[in-house]
Amino acid sequence: MCGIIGYIGIKPEEILYQGLERLEYRGYDSSGMTIQRDNDFVTYKSIGDVKKIKNQIVFKDEFGIGIAHTRWATHGKININNCHPHFSSNGNIALVHNGIIENYEELKEQLIKKGKKFEGETDSEVIAKLFENKLDINDIRRVKKKIKGSYALAIISKTSNCIYFAKNKSPLYIGIGENLAIIASDPTCFVGYTDNYITLDDNQYGRFSQKEIVIYDKDDKIVSIKPTKLDFKYLYEDRAGYEHYMIKEIYQSRLVLENIIEKYRTFEIKEKLKQIKSFEFDRIYLIGCGTAYHAGLIGQHYMREEFNIDIFSEIASEVKYKNLNIDEKSLCIFISQSGETADTLSALEYCREKGGKIISITNAEHSSISRHADINLPIYAGQEKAVASTKAYFAQCIVLYILTCFLKGKDYITPLYYFKRQIDFGDDNEIKLLSEYLSKYDKVFFIGRGVDYISALEASLKLKEITYIFSTAQPSGELKHGIIALIDENIPVIVIATDEELFSKTLNNSYEIKARGGKLILFTSLNIDNEIKENFSYIIKINKTQKEFMPLQVILQLQKLAYFTAKDRGNDPDMPRNLAKSVTVE
Ligand code: AGP
Ligand code: GLU
Repeated sequence: MCGIIGYIGIKPEEILYQGLERLEYRGYDSSGMTIQRDNDFVTYKSIGDVKKIKNQIVFKDEFGIGIAHTRWATHGKININNCHPHFSSNGNIALVHNGIIENYEELKEQLIKKGKKFEGETDSEVIAKLFENKLDINDIRRVKKKIKGSYALAIISKTSNCIYFAKNKSPLYIGIGENLAIIASDPTCFVGYTDNYITLDDNQYGRFSQKEIVIYDKDDKIVSIKPTKLDFKYLYEDRAGYEHYMIKEIYQSRLVLENIIEKYRTFEIKEKLKQIKSFEFDRIYLIGCGTAYHAGLIGQHYMREEFNIDIFSEIASEVKYKNLNIDEKSLCIFISQSGETADTLSALEYCREKGGKIISITNAEHSSISRHADINLPIYAGQEKAVASTKAYFAQCIVLYILTCFLKGKDYITPLYYFKRQIDFGDDNEIKLLSEYLSKYDKVFFIGRGVDYISALEASLKLKEITYIFSTAQPSGELKHGIIALIDENIPVIVIATDEELFSKTLNNSYEIKARGGKLILFTSLNIDNEIKENFSYIIKINKTQKEFMPLQVILQLQKLAYFTAKDRGNDPDMPRNLAKSVTVE
């Protein structure tokens, strides 16, 4: 999930460093940069987030050619030897790579037999060592034929005046400006420098200088170049006085809802919704990963209330292995904040091959998933910087609510408008007291029934990814079928209860936990009497709103709980260990 960038023009250090900052969401295990000037290389490398490399860099106003990389390790430890750029054996060729080379072990063995030495353990270094002394388009062709897997590559040599590139399954774009050219994993790197850019397709490769771009297709034929206009801004979102992006983004949910209400009234979006309605389908699949999968579960809940057809929600990485009954009558809805998640994209391609109608719900209109879909519904959440998704989940659920209403012919504006007024972020001090208590435990369970179970899943994911506390979510009724064996006085159990009809059953399941020493914490919108209250160590009251929006009302406070608990444990909630914001490897 690394981010790569390459640049030719003046001030290469500045533009590449800024690019690394914009790509940091793709990984922050280490970063590196190589600049070519006067037939020589200068390289900077550092472990950790992008800021760490800044002090090393000597920023120059002169012309130069450079490549840079921010890493999310897939193969090999997080250390300087594994930090990109990687070099050919004689040090004359440098490359950065995003992706995974599947046959790297076999290639490495062959190279070692030929006497090549390796400094690190990455699959990417194998590509670098496949190059010899020179670098021209034939070398790119030769190396491309040898490697299997996913790659976005930017390659330079000490003597060439251009950047070579190749792409398969990892995103890659080229921005073309006056006397400059940039190649990057994400076109946000072009904002401020050029409005024209090219989206590279799989199996394309080529080279570019300041003056010329040559792109070849998989049959080695030259591709005619049709640049598109950059129609988005890179909105640098600062923390606006908040200590972290995550808490700011949770509090942005109301604003996001306002944006969605405004945009989903427009002719343009209504036309998209009408087009979806015009498709003939008798099944719906909602597909995503992690939090986006949970949003799919909420969408499934909404749709099952309204339609009498089969509605499935699926984890994207499993779609290809489940023999799902996908054909021309299937409406396949792909949910992804980044629009670049490799598992989701790969499931999308699979469903397209099977003939399904492809809809995407993303927060990035230029992304691979949006482009590969028949229709993209944007969530208008604005840039989400914290790795833990909060406002995007909120927005995805709202867009799924709108889609459900539109397909059913129901008004969605009025209910959303009322919800906007009823959104309740709760009391920070109350949540802080609870987070202080939770932060001392090393396991936390969540339970819920019906739609509350979906909130339990999402709350549990949020908690574990940023606090590193082990956590699981179970349907309340499922505990007694095994998990209850784990309950003792060292496990707080968070009970989510917003559905009046299901409350008595959930309460019984809570008492089963209490009887075994477990500590109970309740998040509820229901009015409960004192006798019941006594069973809970903490009760967080959630304000009632229309039942469809209760999962959103409750998740806001559970997101905050994860945030404050992470802080109490001394973690950086915005950049949790081992994770990246955009997961572009399968
Ligand atoms: C969210 O908190 C997670 N970091 C993660 O589960 C994320 O939702 C998932 O990787 C999907 O990402 P996407 O929405 O960009 O496709
Ligand atoms: N496989 C390479 C590495 O581990 C690139 C990783 C990636 O693109 O996520 O360094």
